[in-house]
Amino acid sequence: MGQIEVFSPAKINLFLSVLGRMENGFHELVSLVSPVDFGDRISIEVEEALQPSVSLVCDDEGLPTDASNLAFAAAELFLTRRGLSWRAQLRLEKRIPCGAGLGGGSSNAAAVLLGLNRLVSGSAEDKDLLEMAAELGSDCPLFLRGRSVVMRGRGELLEDIAPSALQRLSGKCVLLFKPSFSVATPWAFAALAATSGAYGERTLAEERLRAWQSGDLSLADLLDNTFESVIFAKYPAFSALSDRFAQAGFRLLLSGSGSCCYSLLDTKEDEGRLTSIVREAWGKGAFVRACQIL
Ligand code: C5P
Repeated sequence: MGQIEVFSPAKINLFLSVLGRMENGFHELVSLVSPVDFGDRISIEVEEALQPSVSLVCDDEGLPTDASNLAFAAAELFLTRRGLSWRAQLRLEKRIPCGAGLGGGSSNAAAVLLGLNRLVSGSAEDKDLLEMAAELGSDCPLFLRGRSVVMRGRGELLEDIAPSALQRLSGKCVLLFKPSFSVATPWAFAALAATSGAYGERTLAEERLRAWQSGDLSLADLLDNTFESVIFAKYPAFSALSDRFAQAGFRLLLSGSGSCCYSLLDTKEDEGRLTSIVREAWGKGAFVRACQIL
């Protein structure tokens, strides 16, 4: 009946300030987040059926292919909400590492929502879609936009950034690199909650974002992540590499709660130089990937 291929990008947090714990148990945050041109691909095929059903195959055998996979859960939720009696077959080509802070699972869920929405010839982003995305995960809504946005609340409140600021980001080269271990997001939030003075400060965070958008603060001076202190304290691998980067004149940033890190690149030579430093510190098997902000 219908078939569509969707790209499911990874994201990086250029600025992430976690402000504190809310009554619902989630953390309130303010973050400038950018999708990149590196990601997964999902093929979605649908046909009319007597009852709605979803199936998922994935080229990474380590990943679940049932409702605990966010892509599967997103398809189920979409069919239920729209009252569609469809058989949806998903095929996921996984490239984004898991437990990395790159939003892989959330991006897959958003891509499935957008793909199915296109097959049903709906509008690109409507209130329903945003609600479904927020239900699936805090990082899902941001992927509905397909470009850099500021997210607030637990991640469900999105604000477009100024067009001039968007233009400054788009096409920027980034090197992603991840050690062999992952970081569990719930642990990282719990570690922040247990560390006094670790949370960011709202007025300061908003002021820095405003200053960057209006061109009064450079991107280099904006880059920040509340998780850095607790994650670096727990895993010495990050501080050691961060020092090596600093000696070479680069910043190492954590994306989300890690374990994937990134550095902004100015030239192709930077890419080669930083890749060698990463591989020397973390071994030849470390995930390293150059990409661009969308
Ligand atoms: O929303 P999501 O399922 O991705 O969140 C995973 C976990 O991360 C939550 O159960 C919560 O422990 C933590 N979290 C949080 N505040 C957020 C996002 C996630 O405390 N804004």
